[in-house]
Amino acid sequence: MPASDAPSGPSLRAPAAAVRENAHAPYSNFKVGAAIRATSGSVYVGCNVENVAYPEGTCAEAGAIAAMVASGETELAEVYVIADCPSPVPPCGGCRQKLKEFGAADVAVTLATTDGVEMKTTIGDLLPGAFDAGHMERS
Ligand code: THU
Repeated sequence: MPASDAPSGPSLRAPAAAVRENAHAPYSNFKVGAAIRATSGSVYVGCNVENVAYPEGTCAEAGAIAAMVASGETELAEVYVIADCPSPVPPCGGCRQKLKEFGAADVAVTLATTDGVEMKTTIGDLLPGAFDAGHMERS
């Protein structure tokens, strides 16, 4: 479904900000919340979950995507990410690829600060030149 035909709904800011409070971030002290709307209209949330073995931690976006997929959905319609930082939080490289796996290039992504600053972008703009299945066609 083109993102332009996907359902919109109430702002994802409130669920993203609420789940951010549950983040387990004792090592970075940097709590992140993500809320995503699937094309069904359902909203899924995730927060970062760190681990004393640092590389084992997971990002907020990854948690929200995992919740969506576990519920049987695989198509993103909208994404919202929030953290307490000086400028809207940019998703890490791995999360950009994870978002691209489940969302068309024109899917809206809002990056936000807890102070209320928002920056609007898209999955395509976050990961230009993305690797996809087409690159494996000759293998
Ligand atoms: N983090 C996220 O959860 N999402 C982002 O978009 C950026 C970074 C987390 C990972 C780690 O727990 C903490 O923020 C500091 O990197």
